[in-house]
Amino acid sequence: MSKVNRVDHITYAVATGMIEKWGWYHTEIEGGTVSKIVADVRPDDPDSSMKLWCIDFESFGVVLVEGIDRLKKSQVTEFVDLHGDHSVQHIAFDTDSLENFVTRAMSRGVNFRGRQLVNDDGFGKLKQLFGKGYAPLKASQMSFPEYVERPRGGEEGTDLNTDVPQNTGKNFYQRIEDARNRGDVSSLTDFAAMPADWQPTMVQRGSRNLQEATAAGETTLATA
Ligand SMILES: [Fe+2]
Repeated sequence: MSKVNRVDHITYAVATGMIEKWGWYHTEIEGGTVSKIVADVRPDDPDSSMKLWCIDFESFGVVLVEGIDRLKKSQVTEFVDLHGDHSVQHIAFDTDSLENFVTRAMSRGVNFRGRQLVNDDGFGKLKQLFGKGYAPLKASQMSFPEYVERPRGGEEGTDLNTDVPQNTGKNFYQRIEDARNRGDVSSLTDFAAMPADWQPTMVQRGSRNLQEATAAGETTLATA
């Protein structure tokens, strides 16, 4: 089964005038490294745009977005108006195979926003696909998942497998703008594929607390 492996990045929407402050927090307090700053991702758009900072923590990334309002209020500003400063707009999850994951999810009624993109974000090359929002709100106000696949390195090399049809024509900001303009409030899933009698399968794993696990291991060794 194709499942998500880990968090790739977390994208926070921040209030107007706050991106530098939160950039300071994530670097000077939390220890991240700024890997990309875009002062205006859509300089030619008379309607709206956003600022973007990428902060690298090596095993995952943090992305900050701040709306730039022009003729229209930015979708990021609308998100912050509803959810508050530094609210989670989306979390991106890594997959071994984006195609396999998406094919299976779609067969179970999951709704994605357009087709996948091949991109180079602040953390390197990736394939990415965005889910529709978790809740049936305006597209600009919903938080949503992103699913990505990065080059695996090692024997698989540093290049992405891109032998599937791509759609690089529309960036993601524009897709949300289109949905906002259309009044599209369709969401990620309506749970129609969930069996009425579904029950979780419980699997007991060992402790995830490294210190506890180590201490338990030492006790076992000492008493062996
Ligand atoms: Fe993202």
